[in-house]
Amino acid sequence: MLERTFSIIKPDAVKRNLIGQIVSKLEQNGLKIIASKMVFLTVQEAKGFYAEHDGKPFFDTLIKNMTAGPIIVQVLEGDDAIAKNREIMGPTDPEKAPAGSIRKEYAISMQQNSVHGSDSPESAQREISYFFSEIEVFSAP
Ligand code: CMP
Repeated sequence: MLERTFSIIKPDAVKRNLIGQIVSKLEQNGLKIIASKMVFLTVQEAKGFYAEHDGKPFFDTLIKNMTAGPIIVQVLEGDDAIAKNREIMGPTDPEKAPAGSIRKEYAISMQQNSVHGSDSPESAQREISYFFSEIEVFSAP
């Protein structure tokens, strides 16, 4: 089913010049970038985005890492885009990630794991509209 998902290339990856390599993996695996921009989150914006994790032990570090530098936010479209993007990324913990996945190749740790991807259609919708208005998203022809 044609689907949309939301993706972040996190500060740790942007800092290490990995934008192109990460985007290549997404494109090579059949996902199409239909919206893209660079933003530098404020603490308030990061807390709003990750509100579901508020109160968890890793929350403060997560906010610190996500506001440490600019990020790339993108909307990806493709067949089963949500599950496919999660497969391309690999699991949250890079030590558990399979060879060839983004997190296996590029992540530093669980906290600096290079990418974020939506985990359900509901979060994809919420996350896309957190960053993009309708006229900034260009559906594949
Ligand atoms: P992300 O997909 O951006 O969603 C929440 C982030 O919190 C996650 O990736 C990790 O970078 C970070 N994190 C750190 N520790 C944990 C943990 N134990 N469980 C889930 N996420 C964690």
